[in-house]
Amino acid sequence: MKVLGLESSCDETAAAVVTGEGRVLSDVVHSQVSLHAEHGGVVPELASRDHLRNVGPVVMEALARAGLTLGDLDAVAVTHRPGLVGALLVGVQVAKGLAWASGKPLVGVDHRMVRGDAVREEPAPEYPFVALLVSGGHTALYRVDAPSPDRITELGATRDDAAGEAFDKVGKLLGLGYPGGPVIDRLATTGDPTAIPLSAPMARKDSLEFSFSGLKTQMAEWVRREGKPEGQRLADVCASFQSVVTSTLTKKLLHAAEVEGVPRVVIGGGVAANRELRERVKTMAKERGIRAFVPELRSCTDNAAMIAYAGALRRAEGHSDGWDLVATSSTALPRSTRKGRGPRS
Ligand code: KG4
Repeated sequence: MKVLGLESSCDETAAAVVTGEGRVLSDVVHSQVSLHAEHGGVVPELASRDHLRNVGPVVMEALARAGLTLGDLDAVAVTHRPGLVGALLVGVQVAKGLAWASGKPLVGVDHRMVRGDAVREEPAPEYPFVALLVSGGHTALYRVDAPSPDRITELGATRDDAAGEAFDKVGKLLGLGYPGGPVIDRLATTGDPTAIPLSAPMARKDSLEFSFSGLKTQMAEWVRREGKPEGQRLADVCASFQSVVTSTLTKKLLHAAEVEGVPRVVIGGGVAANRELRERVKTMAKERGIRAFVPELRSCTDNAAMIAYAGALRRAEGHSDGWDLVATSSTALPRSTRKGRGPRS
């Protein structure tokens, strides 16, 4: 099986062709980061327009690199939720057009599911596993029993901002440009994580909920009091902030795995590229006898190979969508059993 995947949920226009076994035949990503950088974050209208400009060339390139034409495909998969609606619409309408023109099945993919689900790891994690999705738009824990939205249960999520959004806003506060995550990650490597006192958000051990807005406020207060740090002090501030975020994410991920009695964890999303988070998850999981699946770096940020692969998994189960497939920002899961919403702390 060969599936073309399209992704346009935020600020990457991406297309890829992947086989049913997960072999990536092509993987093309056009990033809009430079377009949004001067605004300090993603501007939805600019994102939609840029997707429109680039989706055609990106799809053509993905097919050309795979050495295939539309007629060689077995399905067209597309991210249809959640994300910026205008941005999603571009991918969904183009996917419908391609599926219609080629007579191939259309498969809608939930962007969050592939993050935990289609990690290109060798060997891939067996089901069930607990996934931490941590990006600029999402921070949530899922129990994944099968590669289908109705076999995925949300165990906990952020009550306000996503962790990536906190990285980006703190980066902006410290004058590091957009996106702040990768810069904080780099600076933190030479910083002292105990340099500034920060309290961990939602720290109660039994809570699987997250909150990052208070941490942003703590950082803003610190900068207001102490002034913008420079040199070694800047590295120390980055390391202190990053340490609180990554230890919170890791503890809750492993606690969720223990509560669920599932000895496998997966991380995905842009923040999964963070060095400290990757190391913490690997080390702490090993200590607890839990197997950690950490995706290769390029699979962490938005790409269409994961969408294509998730589409292939769904197609293998016989699933296809109709022309009424909608682009939506909705984050509700079919099985909205938000298990274990731990107490607020
Ligand atoms: O998944 P993604 O490409 O886009 C969505 O948010 O959908 O994730 C982007 C986010 C940004 O907030 C960015 O700052 C963060 O991932 N990020 C990182 C790192 N690389 C990207 N955060 C911390 N450390 C990194 N190395």
